[in-house]
Amino acid sequence: MAMLTVEDLNVYYGAIHAIKNVSFYVDEGEIVTLIGANGAGKTTTLQTISGLLRSRTGSIIFQGKNISNTHPHLLVGQGLAQVPEGRRVFLQMSVEENLEMGAFTQPSSGVDRDLEMVYAQFPRLKERRRQVAGTLSGGEQQMLAMGRALMSHPKLLMLDEPSMGLAPILVEQIFDIIRDLNKQGSTILLVEQNAQMALSVAHRGYVLETGKVVTTGTGAELLKDEAVKKAYLGG
Ligand SMILES: Nc1ncnc2c1ncn2[C@@H]1O[C@H](COP(=O)(O)OP(=O)(O)OP(=O)(O)O)[C@@H](O)[C@H]1O
Ligand SMILES: [Mg+2]
Repeated sequence: MAMLTVEDLNVYYGAIHAIKNVSFYVDEGEIVTLIGANGAGKTTTLQTISGLLRSRTGSIIFQGKNISNTHPHLLVGQGLAQVPEGRRVFLQMSVEENLEMGAFTQPSSGVDRDLEMVYAQFPRLKERRRQVAGTLSGGEQQMLAMGRALMSHPKLLMLDEPSMGLAPILVEQIFDIIRDLNKQGSTILLVEQNAQMALSVAHRGYVLETGKVVTTGTGAELLKDEAVKKAYLGG
């Protein structure tokens, strides 16, 4: 059974039908990417999985359990963590306080060990552990948001546009980290507008267009797909 199976989602904002019969799955150990243009419905899909929005139809099965009606904070305890679009770190708190907030579902006895695990992954955060998050650079804030999610020991890590607004060198670094985390055992659902990078790291991908899944395949297949190339890879 897949780690996550999303079946037949239909999500509305009032009269706007944002997600239309969307289905996909993520197997344990995979990196799966959802790519698509602005407004395609990528964030809406993630918000629905993490319980912040509701689908009118269908089901979301995570680790064998239907989580369609589960509160977001309970889902974190069940191993589902989301790094939201725009990072949303707590700007007035220090780096370390942000990371500690990510551990709210964990027994306090393990927090120091988990901080060291995150600092090993992101040495830059260790250097800046006492700095307030609002004064970090964009790339550092992205690392912090990812580190905060890792503090909850996620089985499935959902990343919403981790490369947004970053200089090319930092984009490379963030994607290296995504690859690393996956090699260390994290299953990842990655939402990106940077289709080239996302398809290069992903085992499989889905293309969303105006709320619908229009194409799916392995990362390599989608990189070679003529329609995908034309629409998302600059020719
Ligand atoms: N709170 C909201 N109220 C009304 N419409 C919304 C709301 N949030 C999103 N939408 C609409 O739903 C559609 C999907 O939006 P969504 O944010 O999921 O797109 P996205 O693929 O994440 O885009 P982007 O790449 O720009 O982040 C868009 O047409 C958007 O205008
Ligand atoms: Mg979005």
